[in-house]
Amino acid sequence: MKNYAIVLAAGKGTRMKTELPKCAFPILKKPMIQYIHENILKSMVDETTVVVGYQKEIIMGILGDSVDYAIQSTQKGTGHAVMVTKDIMAKKTGTTIIMLGDMPLIDYKVINKVIKYHRDKDNDLTVLTTKYQQPKGYGRIIRNEYGNIEAIVEHNECTNDLKRINEVNTGIYVVNNELLYKIVDKIKLNERKQEYYLTDIVEIMKPNYRVDAFELWDNEKVMGVNDLYSASVAEKYLRNEINKSHMLNGVSIVTPETVTIGENVIIEGNVTIYPNTYITGESIIKSGSKIGPNSEIHTSVIHNNVRVKHSLIFDSEVKSDTVVGPFAHLRNGAVIGENARIGNFVEVKNSIIGDGTKSAHLAYIGDTETGKNVNFGCGSITVNYDGLNKHRTKIGDDVFIGCNTNLIAPVEVGSRVFIAAGSTVTKNVPEGAFTIARNRQINKEDYAKNFITPKDDK
Ligand code: UD1
Ligand code: MG
Repeated sequence: MKNYAIVLAAGKGTRMKTELPKCAFPILKKPMIQYIHENILKSMVDETTVVVGYQKEIIMGILGDSVDYAIQSTQKGTGHAVMVTKDIMAKKTGTTIIMLGDMPLIDYKVINKVIKYHRDKDNDLTVLTTKYQQPKGYGRIIRNEYGNIEAIVEHNECTNDLKRINEVNTGIYVVNNELLYKIVDKIKLNERKQEYYLTDIVEIMKPNYRVDAFELWDNEKVMGVNDLYSASVAEKYLRNEINKSHMLNGVSIVTPETVTIGENVIIEGNVTIYPNTYITGESIIKSGSKIGPNSEIHTSVIHNNVRVKHSLIFDSEVKSDTVVGPFAHLRNGAVIGENARIGNFVEVKNSIIGDGTKSAHLAYIGDTETGKNVNFGCGSITVNYDGLNKHRTKIGDDVFIGCNTNLIAPVEVGSRVFIAAGSTVTKNVPEGAFTIARNRQINKEDYAKNFITPKDDK
C-alpha cells in the first residue's frame, strides 16, 4: 500500500509581516518548505502533493517538478486547502500524511513513526500531538475521560479553562486516503474566521471511525513558524543541533552560539571554526582548514589546510594550503589554486587563480585566468568592464605585476613577464617581456616653489 503526503503551503503568512510567502521564508538560508520536502524524500512517503496559492511561483520554483501541485487560489483555511487536492488525490488508495508547510524542524523519523503507528493501530485518523509549556497559538487537544481524543479547539476559540491544556495539535494528521475526501467535504465554514478548519475532521470522524492521537515527546521537531520571532527560535534550535553534530564529528567550533552552519554543509574532522562565522548552502570544508572569525562562506568548497580570516566566499573554490583574508571577497565561481594568497581587501570574481599565485593587498581580479606563481602588486586591477560588456584577462605563469597596474581587458600577458608599477597595459604582452606603460617622470629643478610656500614665509 502506498503512502502519500499533502503539504499545505498556500498561505501568505500574515503574521510574518514579510513579503515572501511564509513557507519560502529562509531558516539558516534555506526555505522552510525545502526542509519539509527533503525530510519527506527521506521518509517512507511515495508521492507528495503540495498545496500552493499565494505567490505560488516562488514555492514551485523551490520544489520544481519533484512534487504535484494543487492550487488554492483563495486561502479559505487548512480544511479548504485539503479540499483542493481532491482532483489529484481522491482516487488513490493508501495512507496519507497531511503536513503544514511551516514546520521546518520536522524530521523524517517523525513522519515514519506516525505513519507506522497509524498502520499498526489500524486507525482511520491519527492526529500527531505534542505538549508545550507555552502552547499559545496552537489548537488544543480535547480528550474525554478515557483519554481518547474528542476534538481540536483553536487557541482563539478556547475558554480560559481550555487554554490551560498544554497538549496541542502539531498539524500532522495521518488518514486513510479513501476516507479523506468524504470527510473534508463535510467541514463547515467557521463563521468567525470565514475559514474551513481541517481540525474539524476529528469531530466529524469521531462517531463512526477509529480516531486516535499519538503524542510526540520531541516537541521542538514539530513547532510551527508563524512570525519572525518563532522563525528565530527555529533557527536557534537548528543551529544548536547542527553545531552539536559537527562538534561530535571532530569539528572544533569556538563560541558555537555565534556560528551558523547550514543543514547541507559538509565539514570534515580537524577543522576549526572561529566566532561569528556563517557557512551555508552546499559548502564543503575539508580537514585541517581554519575558518573565521567573522567570515561567510556560501556554496563553496574549501580544500585542506586553508586559512580563511574575516572574509566572504560565495560560489567559489579554494584549494589546499591557501590563505584567504583578512577582508577578502571571492565570488561568482572564483577558483583559487593551492598554496596561494588572497589577502587584504582583494576581490576575486569569476576567475581562475593558479597555484602559488599571490595577491596580498588591495586588488580587483575579475573575469581572469591567471597561471602559477604570479604576483599581483598592491592595487592591481583587471579592468574587465567597458560600461557595456565584460572582457577577459589572461595571465601566464611566473608573472610579476607591479603595484597599481591596470590590465585593460581583453588582454593577454605571457609567462615570465615583468610589468613595471603604475603601468596601464592595453596591449598583449609577449612571453618574457618587460613592460612599462606609464608617462616618463620629469624633474623640474627648483620649480616646486611655484606651488608650495614654506610655512615660515606666510
Ligand atoms: C494550525 C492548526 C492548529 C495547529 C497549528 C500547528 C488549523 C485550523 N489550525 O494553526 O490547530 O496547532 O497549525 O502549527 O489547521 N494554509 C494553506 N491554505 C490556507 C491556510 C493555511 O495552505 O487557506 C497553510 C499555510 O501556508 C501553512 C499551514 O497551512 O503552511 C498552516 O497555516 P497556519 O495559518 O500557520 O495555521 P496555524 O494558525 O499555525
Ligand atoms: Mg502555523
